[in-house]
Amino acid sequence: MNTRVLTGITTSGTPHLGNYAGAIRPSIQASTQAGVDAFYFMADYHALIKCDDPQRIARSRLEIAATWLAAGLDAERVTFYRQSDIPEIPELCWMLTCVTPKGLMNRAHAYKAAVDQNTARDVEPDDGVNMGLFSYPVLMAADILMFNANKVPVGRDQIQHLEMARDIAQRFNHLYGQGTDFFVLPEVQVDEEVATLPGLDGRKMSKSYDNTIPLFEGGSAATRAAIMRIVTDSRQPGEPKDAEGSHLYTLFRAFSTPQQSAAFRQQLEEGLGWGDAKKALFDRIEEELAPMRERYTDLVSRPDRIEDILQAGASKARALSQPFMERLRAAVGLRAASSTTGAPVKAKSGKGKKPRFVSFRDEDGKFRFRLLTAEGDELLSSEPFDDPQAAGVAIKGLQALQLGDVAAVPGESIVTLDIAGVVVCRFEADRLEAVETALAALAEG
Ligand code: TRP
Repeated sequence: MNTRVLTGITTSGTPHLGNYAGAIRPSIQASTQAGVDAFYFMADYHALIKCDDPQRIARSRLEIAATWLAAGLDAERVTFYRQSDIPEIPELCWMLTCVTPKGLMNRAHAYKAAVDQNTARDVEPDDGVNMGLFSYPVLMAADILMFNANKVPVGRDQIQHLEMARDIAQRFNHLYGQGTDFFVLPEVQVDEEVATLPGLDGRKMSKSYDNTIPLFEGGSAATRAAIMRIVTDSRQPGEPKDAEGSHLYTLFRAFSTPQQSAAFRQQLEEGLGWGDAKKALFDRIEEELAPMRERYTDLVSRPDRIEDILQAGASKARALSQPFMERLRAAVGLRAASSTTGAPVKAKSGKGKKPRFVSFRDEDGKFRFRLLTAEGDELLSSEPFDDPQAAGVAIKGLQALQLGDVAAVPGESIVTLDIAGVVVCRFEADRLEAVETALAALAEG
């Protein structure tokens, strides 16, 4: 069976040279390999998380699609689509949301970084955090699991998202699989060979550092102007240059054969002036980009053609996602009424189920909890607490309590449990044994 390779690009900006060398070029190359089925898409739902400018979203979707096509992507061979043209993706996203523990999302790097920044600025931890950002990894898991991708080539910053996708897939398989796994566990692919381009100032090329070299935008004049602004040291023409230590050389290498790079390096070490070096770099980049830029300009001027290609891609993708979603819907119980028997659902046997604590807020706004049996019957209800932390401490305390040491006081029909002098709950004395059994079962798990 072929390997399914899937990746997406968030459509919130105009692609630059770093996006091309780091993501687009290697993806296109991978898609031409034998035994590979490639799924490449525009992550336009993800773009909405950080961008509320409709013009910019629309423009970026068009530019990124045109870039991919101009750079040589074969839309016949690759399944090439927009995320938002596949309604099964947000549908799956919801099913996955319902099996994803909130605590898992609390640990996501992007969310934690936002919280850390807020804490540093002395504002509310969740200031400016929308639910899209918070559950970003679930939507990404849906993108990947919808098509059962085996390999997902991404940048280092996305490794954690892939781990979460696997985690979520396993939970769904475990809950609903009944012997057959619905989802393949995807593997992350971080390619060390792929160039992470430095920007004008030597830091990673990124829009947020404002150090990018444009790809097609502004034509060759803009690419040239940016290259001329690359920061170098102050060595004069004739003075030997430190090729390895210069990011100009790193850029050159990303667009050259090993022989070309070796020759350029020698020239630098023999004193090539930085001005001439920049011209040489421009020529190398231009040789690769010029023919693509022509196709790009042509494509962008005919958006209807791009739309046709993307619609065809969406049909191809949906031929897979629609039937798969039918199975998933049936698995979770969203079935046609006609295929549902009228017999009452048998309660799940208590086997494997555990007693549990459930917390709630009462009418007075106080925090309480109940202890339920494995069958869901109430064993005890707690006293009210002013805050959820105090209720949590009481639950922990109860679990640690040696109930064997608690005896019903003769003559009293109510048992009172207190922890560190605070009354936590009262219940009828004849329940003592059941409470004891429930707490012991909990302690086991
Ligand atoms: N989060 C990815 C990024 O910012 C984009 C993305 C969205 C993606 N969904 C995906 C990548 C699914 C791979 C697979 O780079």
